[in-house]
Amino acid sequence: MADHAILKYDGKELQLPVITGSENEKAIDITTLRDQTGLITMDSGYKNTGSCTSSITYLDGEAGVLRYRGYAIEDLASKAQFLEVAYMIIYGRLPTEKEYTTFKNKIKRHSIIHEDMKHFFNGFPSSGHPMSILSSMVCALSAYYPDCISADPNDDLHITRLLSKIRTIVAFGYKKSIGHPLIYPRNDLSYCANFMHMMFAVPSEPYEPDPEVVKAVNTLLILHADHEQNCSTSTVRLVGSSNANMYAAISAGILALWGPLHGGANQAVIEMLQAIHKSGGDYKGFMEKVKDKNSNARLMGFGHRVYKNYDPRAKVLKDMADKLLPHLKVKDPLLDIAKRLEEIALEDPYFVERNLYPNVDFYSGIVYRAIGIPVNMFTVMFALGRLPGWIGQWREMMMDPSRKIGRPRQIYTGEVARPFVALADR
Ligand code: CMC
Repeated sequence: MADHAILKYDGKELQLPVITGSENEKAIDITTLRDQTGLITMDSGYKNTGSCTSSITYLDGEAGVLRYRGYAIEDLASKAQFLEVAYMIIYGRLPTEKEYTTFKNKIKRHSIIHEDMKHFFNGFPSSGHPMSILSSMVCALSAYYPDCISADPNDDLHITRLLSKIRTIVAFGYKKSIGHPLIYPRNDLSYCANFMHMMFAVPSEPYEPDPEVVKAVNTLLILHADHEQNCSTSTVRLVGSSNANMYAAISAGILALWGPLHGGANQAVIEMLQAIHKSGGDYKGFMEKVKDKNSNARLMGFGHRVYKNYDPRAKVLKDMADKLLPHLKVKDPLLDIAKRLEEIALEDPYFVERNLYPNVDFYSGIVYRAIGIPVNMFTVMFALGRLPGWIGQWREMMMDPSRKIGRPRQIYTGEVARPFVALADR
């Protein structure tokens, strides 16, 4: 296959190199395009634009394949621990037993937050969305650890610190929102069990997290751990590319994730299912609405920029919902509604023609609900899982010697030059 593409423009011919990835994906390298032709490329929504090379995640949306560092998501979801996946995503390979123990110990050491940071939770209104609180608190960590501003991305102090403290921040935020005393971490527990403990223990009662729930949380976090150059990860890379510190970059990523077209979809899915339930199960009316271009409604949890097939994460989550809900003795009518919607959509030409399938957010909320996570915290759970991906992608970029500040161009469509007119003369 040719190793270059030819662009003909204005009587000139330009050879552009073709880059090939390890799974044989191809890209035309246009780095010299503007210098040689004066042209830039336009690609709204970056549908065809590669912003970097990366060795973290491989995704084949047509085939429904997702791998982190070469390992299939299905294998990782059923066999791995979230922290070993985090290590692998961030540092490039699975840890040895010794490396894993050291990594886990570092994470344990950082599980509490600075006592002064607890006051911040008093300042937020109890109705404040947990994503705004999470983003603010993660950014605030840079004020408490100012050496992060010039930290070496090779130094894992801030990495392990953030991986650990994010659980405490999330759980403290939840406890504050419901008026409960804050529950401090218990470092004898695993990463996920410790999080459950901080979320659900109360001082007056003994609490041992249900091992099946801990296992489900572990899997949920692994399923969300990375997804290559999506909106929030690209945000982390873009902010980080200015040499802003890691906490600042990830705080920005959290905000990008919040939107309902991205991670916020898991909350929107449950709200949609609840509305259908409330309407007495008016599937037909709802489906007509999502297909009507004037309605602005979408079947939330369906469709994906990259997957044109069933999202492999959604398969694992559907299966998880089927097993975990009976274990917890939860009978959730929303699960039946979701399955019915899926059946209808997968036979409807509108969805079939557009290759719209369930994505990771379609079933995850049903599992979160069964576990006792409030609806407005679903996207926070996504962020907890995505953290290793954001850190790994940020670190990969920071360690790339050819790194440049992210700075897209534009085509200006405004007024041409004209004289300023003083206020009195307008
Ligand atoms: N319901 C109804 N129609 C849809 C949907 C949907 N969920 N998704 C896409 N379409 C239609 C869309 O109207 C368009 O139709 P047409 O070609 O007639 O104009 C066509 O399918 C292509 O859609 P698009 O918006 O151009 O595709 P995109 O790649 O820009 O958007 C998406 C991808 C995820 C934003 C979109 O599918 C969507 O809004 N889905 C619902 C929100 C959602 O579940 N987001 C979570 C994504 S997975 C988690 C993560 O972010 O990683």
